[in-house]
Amino acid sequence: MDRNLALEVIRVTEAAAIASAHHMGRGDEKLADQAAVDAMRTAFDSIAISGTVVIGEGERDEAPMLYIGEKVGSGGPGVDIALDPLEGTTILATGRSNSISVIALTDKGGFLHAPDTYMDKICCGPRAKGVIDITKGATWNLNEVARALDQPVTEITVVILDRPRHAELIREVREAGARIKLIGDGDVAAAVATCREETGVDLLLGTGGAPEGVLAAAALQCIGGDMQGKLAYRNEGEKERARKMGVTDMNKVFSIDELASGNCMFAATGVTNGDLLKGVRFFRGGCYTNSIVMRRQSGTVRMIETMHHSGKKSWIKK
Ligand code: FBP
Repeated sequence: MDRNLALEVIRVTEAAAIASAHHMGRGDEKLADQAAVDAMRTAFDSIAISGTVVIGEGERDEAPMLYIGEKVGSGGPGVDIALDPLEGTTILATGRSNSISVIALTDKGGFLHAPDTYMDKICCGPRAKGVIDITKGATWNLNEVARALDQPVTEITVVILDRPRHAELIREVREAGARIKLIGDGDVAAAVATCREETGVDLLLGTGGAPEGVLAAAALQCIGGDMQGKLAYRNEGEKERARKMGVTDMNKVFSIDELASGNCMFAATGVTNGDLLKGVRFFRGGCYTNSIVMRRQSGTVRMIETMHHSGKKSWIKK
């Protein structure tokens, strides 16, 4: 895959981030998401790929744009795409931290075709790679990660989605002595944060969206982190959807390589401020964005700040 592609893809996440940031705190999740989808879809037209959306906005009958199976790009190498134009719709609609616009690319067949169910996840940074095991409890994993990081468990920070379903997990982590950072939404950015020492986050535990799990795996492949995921179903309907998407073993633990393999690239632009990225900042006549772009092949991580001028780009309001 052309290495310049990684920089091109940033344009796509920037466009979606800016378009949705106009709707920050306005309380309208649908409008914000639609703005991100429209901008991302348009921006794809100038990217020289023959892309197929594998993780997208939903099935074709429920999502008119960026649906699973949609072809995007102006023509070029065949790639599979996982995307979320606005990861953290509630965050943005309420003006809180950590929403991002995100895309991952890989060679054809490299992403798990994850159904729209939940996934139990464990994610960590490069120094703890190889020691995690989702089939063991939180305490076991905390001890192993602490040993790998050469720290006591009391110095480990775990990020967990703030949900009632995590009450028992939170209790166990507290009892083990680790610090906890509860987040309202946005576990893709949180997973990436485990690989960035400056965020102070060491481990992600808990259950979030399965499509987000594939995005996180692609990012962690680029940056040398580790992850395991296990699909979690709320009802028979979800199991049926998973079977239709090719899942045969309902209790399978997916390794990071089974979630995302090949020449992964990952790009994200901050929509609202977060641990990983600053959000969009508007000024008279334009805005600034901050993005991260990573390639597995080279291991390069680029943090890019861009100044955009309205009038030259249709998705930035004047
Ligand atoms: P959306 O972008 O679809 O709003 O997802 C936000 C998110 O917090 C994800 O980061 C996370 O994986 C998932 O929702 C958790 O789902 P739920 O809100 O149902 O607990």
